[in-house]
Amino acid sequence: MRILGIESSCDETAAAVVEDGRRILSSVVASQLDTHGKYGGVVPELASREHLRAIVPVVRQALDDSSTTLAGLSAIAVTEGPGLVGSLLVGVTYGKALCFASGLPLIGVNHVEGHIHAVLLEQREKKHDIQFPALALVVSGGHTHLFEVSSPGHYRLLGKTRDDAAGEAYDKVAKLLGFGYPGGPVLDQIAPHGNPRAVKFTLARMKGNQLDFSFSGLKTAVLRWVEHHNFADEIALRRNLLKDQPHPSPDQWLAVTPEPTRDLIASFQFTVIEELLRRVISSADELGVSSIIVSGGVACNSGLRQRVSRFAGYGFYFPSHALSTDNAAMIASAAFPKFERSEFGGFDLRATANLTLAG
Ligand code: KG4
Ligand code: ZN
Repeated sequence: MRILGIESSCDETAAAVVEDGRRILSSVVASQLDTHGKYGGVVPELASREHLRAIVPVVRQALDDSSTTLAGLSAIAVTEGPGLVGSLLVGVTYGKALCFASGLPLIGVNHVEGHIHAVLLEQREKKHDIQFPALALVVSGGHTHLFEVSSPGHYRLLGKTRDDAAGEAYDKVAKLLGFGYPGGPVLDQIAPHGNPRAVKFTLARMKGNQLDFSFSGLKTAVLRWVEHHNFADEIALRRNLLKDQPHPSPDQWLAVTPEPTRDLIASFQFTVIEELLRRVISSADELGVSSIIVSGGVACNSGLRQRVSRFAGYGFYFPSHALSTDNAAMIASAAFPKFERSEFGGFDLRATANLTLAG
């Protein structure tokens, strides 16, 4: 039972063929980093244009790599939201056109549910099934959501960010400090070279739902810190490095990052991880849950992966790096249980920018 997945919610055009919801036969991701990098963030109009260029060759390559033709598929799954509407539309429209031409059923998938399935897919592949109920923390450039997962397909939203997503905070802080886009991976490479306790940031205090997240105060605190230190020269140095070299190596970044900035970055990363994990652990304890799924681009963070090892008694499940960031294998995998339940979408399936998963 093979499903073709198509993902185009943000700045990656991706297609994958997954067998029985667990075996990845192909996974192709065309990144638009070079297009958006020079603007310091995703430009929605450029993203739609790049998806239009990439969608046909990316889907063709995913079919070729898996030695599958449309006739060998059981369904086509597309990300229907949340995301940038112009980007989503490209994948949704192309998916519908393929279904119309081939007679295959269409399945709409929520991108956030896809991120959770990235972990379930790999655990199934390893024949290590996760115990339910579980918690799922989805942390990326667009989302910071904590769910209770009573079983795959059944989610209850426990908390979400009230302002920036965790990855967005990384990207904004990196931009402020003169590192390129996306900044998360660069800050993660520099953080181990600084003292995480050097700058004391206060943790966000939430009124109302204590499981909601907030990163805008931390971002502003970094801005204030930068304003009080004479950073202009070193920021210019980093911007110049980026002009000469679009993808500097970790050593090149370190060479233009003096100790106080390394300490600032280490302290920022320490605080983000603290913000995430204290809510995860308190809800795990309250609900008596021990399996914790972490997914989305920020799940690549090495500091986060290391810190969870301190919490003995909980099973943390991260995807491989390739499946942490946006990809279509997670979409094809999330579609498998929907296929079994015959939950098909019609040709009126829409791209929904603010689609929610469980409220
Ligand atoms: O899941 P993803 O590919 O796209 C969205 O759905 O947003 O996540 C991309 C985000 C970016 O904000 C990027 O900076 C962040 O994930 N990211 C990281 C790391 N790798 C990617 N953040 C912190 N540490 C990392 N190692
Ligand atoms: Zn994502």
